[in-house]
Amino acid sequence: MTHVHDIGNEPPEQIHLIEDDKGAFTGAIVLHSTALGPAAGGCRLWHYPDREALTVDAIRLARGMSYKNALAGLPFGGGKAVLQHADGLDRAVLLARFAAAVERLGGSYVTAEDVGTTMRDMTTVSRGTRHVAGLQAVDGMAGGDPSPWTALGVLEAMRVAVRTRLGRELADVTVAVQGAGNVGRHLCRLLAAEDARLIVADADERRAQAIAAETGARVFPAAAIAEADAEVFAPCALGAVLDRVSIPRLRAAVVTGAANNQLATDQDGALLHARDILYAPDYVANAGGIINVAAEYLGETAGEVEGRVRAIATRMQAIFERAEHERLPTNIVADRMARQVIADAAGQKLSHLVQAA
Ligand code: NAI
Repeated sequence: MTHVHDIGNEPPEQIHLIEDDKGAFTGAIVLHSTALGPAAGGCRLWHYPDREALTVDAIRLARGMSYKNALAGLPFGGGKAVLQHADGLDRAVLLARFAAAVERLGGSYVTAEDVGTTMRDMTTVSRGTRHVAGLQAVDGMAGGDPSPWTALGVLEAMRVAVRTRLGRELADVTVAVQGAGNVGRHLCRLLAAEDARLIVADADERRAQAIAAETGARVFPAAAIAEADAEVFAPCALGAVLDRVSIPRLRAAVVTGAANNQLATDQDGALLHARDILYAPDYVANAGGIINVAAEYLGETAGEVEGRVRAIATRMQAIFERAEHERLPTNIVADRMARQVIADAAGQKLSHLVQAA
């Protein structure tokens, strides 16, 4: 659980509470930063014990989106909406209320699906506001399922990490993929096309077996996949898989995956660094999905998405070089670079305002 002090000294620009027609609290929209553009980030529907827990989580998630969008090179700031999942929830009413709240913000917040919401929910939301992405794709245009783009970004990040840490190509390494879901499956296919050796595990073993049959991967017990004998560990299932217990047991020299919040705490980045395991910061590696969502909102083509997703490799390279130069864990370097991009944009905005005054 996140507490108020976890927000640190980086308060969000705006917090908007959402209420039902009787004035009861049903959620919050947080605009962490709009320095780079409208605050973009999905809408989560989840059960929270109280209003404070929900709002603090929304603030933390919105800040994460600011960093992610900044390092994805997107003209968007960071935001997040979180809605309370209550017993007897009337989904349509809640989503209509939410859409009205997004519309009132006039485009300074752009929403999309997230944990607990679906593409169908976003279609419902789109009846009340234009400021929504994550809808069905139109041929040749950006949009639709983000998972293949997320997998492509992870692949490119992994290629750079393997070259940096091992001086090898993907064809010369074994990758242990944790989770054969939407992203994990696509990643396995891309890695198989690169001739990488594959080990795959899923809590639902049938999923692992299905992708193994397609790609020639070896199926591994889900409980032990982080300890598999592989040069690369690719977490594509849950968050917080890298902690004080799992890190000492890792056999991989590189960690690159799609899962959000792979590090249980920031200090776990230092533990990986101390073991000389090269960690590709999760929010940089997995930005393909948000790049696709952002491009959909901006009316761009699938070709433009591909260019932006492949550019994840360049950013990852810059993070690894700076981490090496400054002898710092990569997660710390990524956060600093993201804050710098945001600060530079805020500075430019301010100087335009001063010149116009
Ligand atoms: P998914 O729900 O389709 O797949 C997750 C898979 O992990 C499922 O097959 C599940 O059975 C498996 N799993 C759960 N617990 C496991 C365990 N302990 N060991 C092994 N396997 C386990 O989710 P999806 O969309 O593939 O996303 C994977 C991760 O990537 C999530 O953390 C998600 O937040 C993150 N992500 C996904 C993006 C996307 O475009 N779908 C974008 C950015 C991040």
